Amino acid sequence: MTSGTKPSFPEITDELRLQIREELPELAQIEDAGLQAKAVDAWAYAIAQSSFTSIRQIPPAGNPDVQEAKRGDQTDHLRGVTRIAIAIAKEMQAAYPELGIDMDTIIAGGLLHDVGKAWEFDPERRKRWSSEQKRYGRPSIRHPAMGAHICLTVGLPEEIAHIAMAHSGEGELLVRSLECMIVHQADYTFWNTLLAGGQLKPETVPAQKRKYVDGSPV
Ligand SMILES: [Fe+2]
Repeated sequence: MTSGTKPSFPEITDELRLQIREELPELAQIEDAGLQAKAVDAWAYAIAQSSFTSIRQIPPAGNPDVQEAKRGDQTDHLRGVTRIAIAIAKEMQAAYPELGIDMDTIIAGGLLHDVGKAWEFDPERRKRWSSEQKRYGRPSIRHPAMGAHICLTVGLPEEIAHIAMAHSGEGELLVRSLECMIVHQADYTFWNTLLAGGQLKPETVPAQKRKYVDGSPV
């Protein structure tokens, strides 16, 4: 342990829980009361063990300094992805009722898919990873793995932890669940729409997508 490592089980206050509900109002749409309470706890836990005091302090980016929107914050991303995922799920479920999409899993998964970002974007941890990458790696743990850890720690079901774990490139290493595939598509739609519409900070667009930046060679 180093002085930069915080306790593993930070205190989650009712005040913080209330704040999380205000920052992510779609949490109220989760029908299962137990699932809803644990989803709140997951974000409260994530914030409490970081140097952030609000989800709104996390920049609106896919990865630290990568694919960052010109305006907004991380709640805009979480809420946008969740609403896109709900729309996909409703349309597909109406057209193909046999899919049997679980809407609570879509909503909780959408709101929690990036719950590990409070760790990966934490300025204090990023400073430590940069100065001692030989020891810690950089980052030590990406947000999908940390997100799965947080979900399981607060007692969320593995279906939700799976969405946190596999919504991103990590998901190419395994087989995504139906709800995870929908959240994954919603997530990529969110970023790619901003990319094609010129709404990402140009300096944060990754090399393989530079052609979408005005004036760049195709
Ligand atoms: Fe995301």
